[in-house]
Amino acid sequence: MTAQLNYLMCAPDHYDVDYVINPWMEGNVHKSSRDRAVEQWQKLYGVLKGLVNVELVTPEKGWPDMVFTANAGLVLGDKAVLSRFLHKERQGEEPYFKAWFESKGFTVFELPKDLPFEGAGDALFDRSGGWLWAGYGFRSELDAHPYLAKWLDVEVLSLRLIDNRFYHLDTCFCPLTGGYLLYYPPAFDSYSNRLIEMRVPADKRIAIEEADAVNFACNAVNVDRNVVMNKISDRLKQRITNAGFTVIETPLTEFLKAGGAAKCLTLRTIEVPIAAESSDQAIEQGGVEARIVELTGHLLDSGIINRALDLVTDNGGSFQVLEFNLGEQRQSTSLARIRISAPSHDLMETIMGELIEIGAVLQDRDTSDANLEPVLQDGVAPDDFYVSTIYPTDACVDGEWIRCTNQRMDAAIAISPDGKTATCKLLRDLVVGDRVVVGYDGVRTVRKPEARDTAKKEEFSFMGAGVSSERRVELVVEQIAWELRQIRDRGGKLVVSCGPVVVHTGGAPHLAYLIREGYVQSMLGGNAIAVHDMEQSSMGTSLGVDLKRGISVKGGHRHHLKVINSVRRYGSIHKAVEAGFVKTGVMYECVKNDIPFVLAGSIRDDGPLPDTVMDLLEAQRLYSEQIRNADMILMLSSMLHSIGVGNMTPAGVKMVCVDINPAVVTKLSDRGSVESVGVVTDVGLFLSLLVQQLKKLDSPVAVAA
Ligand code: ARG
Repeated sequence: MTAQLNYLMCAPDHYDVDYVINPWMEGNVHKSSRDRAVEQWQKLYGVLKGLVNVELVTPEKGWPDMVFTANAGLVLGDKAVLSRFLHKERQGEEPYFKAWFESKGFTVFELPKDLPFEGAGDALFDRSGGWLWAGYGFRSELDAHPYLAKWLDVEVLSLRLIDNRFYHLDTCFCPLTGGYLLYYPPAFDSYSNRLIEMRVPADKRIAIEEADAVNFACNAVNVDRNVVMNKISDRLKQRITNAGFTVIETPLTEFLKAGGAAKCLTLRTIEVPIAAESSDQAIEQGGVEARIVELTGHLLDSGIINRALDLVTDNGGSFQVLEFNLGEQRQSTSLARIRISAPSHDLMETIMGELIEIGAVLQDRDTSDANLEPVLQDGVAPDDFYVSTIYPTDACVDGEWIRCTNQRMDAAIAISPDGKTATCKLLRDLVVGDRVVVGYDGVRTVRKPEARDTAKKEEFSFMGAGVSSERRVELVVEQIAWELRQIRDRGGKLVVSCGPVVVHTGGAPHLAYLIREGYVQSMLGGNAIAVHDMEQSSMGTSLGVDLKRGISVKGGHRHHLKVINSVRRYGSIHKAVEAGFVKTGVMYECVKNDIPFVLAGSIRDDGPLPDTVMDLLEAQRLYSEQIRNADMILMLSSMLHSIGVGNMTPAGVKMVCVDINPAVVTKLSDRGSVESVGVVTDVGLFLSLLVQQLKKLDSPVAVAA
């Protein structure tokens, strides 16, 4: 017996499954046998008494889960942090455990109200390093962890649980003597898995399979080289034995029905503080961080507050609403001050980035100024540079908020030497001496106040899901046609970015119609769209396929090279059109109607056409020039060009993305801009419907109707 170790248990006199507060209890209410439970508990008690000193707390009637003493609190030295149960079903256990701790001379710490923490069920000391692994996500709150760190003076590593079957850390995680760790990796998010892998060397990690995990193999009591647990697979038993442990199995099926096993039924009440090995590591790898942000706007109506809080928890953070002033009138805005915590600096950065994107402003420093750092090498930003988004952005310099020019995503924000202007600059355009915004302080993105109404519109345009079903395509087309009409009639700007699929699917004549009728003000594409469009108009095929008859033409695969060759002979697309070589189609209409086009080259281009810009930086520049002041961008089946275009486009420009591949559509409409519409359909079909719709708008019958 390891006499110096004390464990606390509670006899199952009143044990039952009375309610459901975890998935194991579902379907098991009043299905457990008291006799068998007593028998199994006695067995465990017997085994443990042979190893350690076991103390007992008096079971209380009406608190059936009190047998699970792991949830009484967390002990270190002479201190005990009392549990604050999440569920009212267990909150009544608190005073009994508190009295017990006090009777034994522990100094009892109590967390603020509404800050749940379920004791040693969610907090386990590493057996070699001297830090505390603390779980959160279901029962305990991340914000409880800094209290543990402070009160127990220990480094806390927060692990996020993501599978509700493993709702307490001790159901899927068991540090063992000698630095070993028995655990079930899928119960944790990827960040937590990374943290575990950083702290526990591979040869000490015993990752278990689901079949053992659901038998609560991780819910083991480890005393020196003994591991006491419910029945497990022979394979796992062998692995644990190979690591130098003795596995003692004892059946605990009656307690599994309540979601607990060996470890849950015990609380180690002697935990000796171990000196932390290296505190530098602690700062680098863990530690809950907190920041305060403010959000203003139609927070409820627009759903922004939900989005903000969801994104915090989705990223493994936690929050506390410090203040919420609800605007009273329909038109009045609300204000929320929220304290955000995250288990690490990295995750805090991710959360801040996303919060700022939806309009939050950091508000916890004396100054609201952005942090600026100089560029030390041409074309290279300082680490931590703020990465711009598509939304109008302000940076605060010397107490003044200034609006960025050239707004686009994925750029750095450079501040002029006099501190008066801010510009989105691509990395390659940065020069030594530029000052660039780093971090998230003093940066805000500005949302249109009318954003409140977009929720409805979004739904109508099938954004969000990003994808629309075929049946609804016609509806969307109707709306787009209407908008195209309006843009044209008020002298606005429509930019089309398109791929060769437009031609292959028979859409070229329709796109040509749009250009001819004045709907298109700029055309962006690559080498291929132009090649196949001119192949079709001069030879009747696209990639060698006769589009009228739908069959490949003998030798047709060479047609496009012939076309390229001819156009190269003429010297340019314009000259080929003027010379009558090209008589119809997209490129023809562009030339005839003086519509500027930019063809951006790529590695796979044949030829290329004389007009194709093979200098990519130059092509990007020309594209962004064309996009300036666009009202709408129609992206037709070219992932490559459309994503390029998307990156250069500020919020507020409506983007319609049409592709047969839902993944492409989702990718593009997922830029988070409410102005995006995704349509999953054949692009040829889309264009034909669009033209039909536009013609309908032209006909007097439609006007009368
Ligand atoms: N029915 C109890 C609950 O859901 C089981 C607790 C198990 N305890 C543990 N440390 N995992 O709270």
